[in-house]
Amino acid sequence: MNLKRADVPRVPHVPSQVEAAIAYVGSLPLAFKDWSIGTKGMRDMVGMLRLSNPEAFEARVMTILEIGTCRSLTACLMAQVGVVYTLDVAHYPETKAILENAPAGTRSRIVHVNSGDAERGRALLARMRFDAVFIDGCHRYEAVVKDIEFAAPLSDALIFHDYDDRHSDGVVRAVDAFAASCPLAFASKDTSLAFCRVR
Ligand SMILES: C[S@@+](CC[C@H](N)C(=O)[O-])C[C@H]1O[C@@H](n2cnc3c(N)ncnc32)[C@H](O)[C@@H]1O
Repeated sequence: MNLKRADVPRVPHVPSQVEAAIAYVGSLPLAFKDWSIGTKGMRDMVGMLRLSNPEAFEARVMTILEIGTCRSLTACLMAQVGVVYTLDVAHYPETKAILENAPAGTRSRIVHVNSGDAERGRALLARMRFDAVFIDGCHRYEAVVKDIEFAAPLSDALIFHDYDDRHSDGVVRAVDAFAASCPLAFASKDTSLAFCRVR
């Protein structure tokens, strides 16, 4: 694990909508949250989103891409600071209720691109630009390399989940190789999130 562990820069004013989403996700049954980032992770995520583009964050007009929607928990959080395009190859039936009960306005700021064929979903987004891309899909090395190759031309900031000991041969190996050419890259001291400034 080559990335330096650091405190994620503090957000001076966390928008009330972000706090509401953190409380909402926190209130959901544990079984819905098994693969997600946890409360500490959500707070780190907020800091990393702000670092990606402070002006767009403050104005809550970010455009964010997520690879790996699962039940839309991180999408619900990120939607509080802009519009989230989120890709998955599977569908989780409980997502409908999660979105219906989410804080007002959340659902209309999430664009779900859900296709059994990942390439078709990616093709729809390949010409867009994003303030940040959150990579949390398949955690195998080859898959993460592919996600990075897809995402790096689309954004100046990549955020990764599962940069930890459990994924040393997958996420960590792929992120370390990519981060070597990045002007800024660090991992959170407290959670499994990592941040790379691409250019
Ligand atoms: C760890 S979960 C995502 C959790 C979600 N970001 C959260 O924190 O709430 C990983 C998801 O990636 C999806 N996935 C796997 N391969 C993928 C691919 N090639 N493209 C997009 N999503 C993929 C899986 O179906 C799964 O739902």
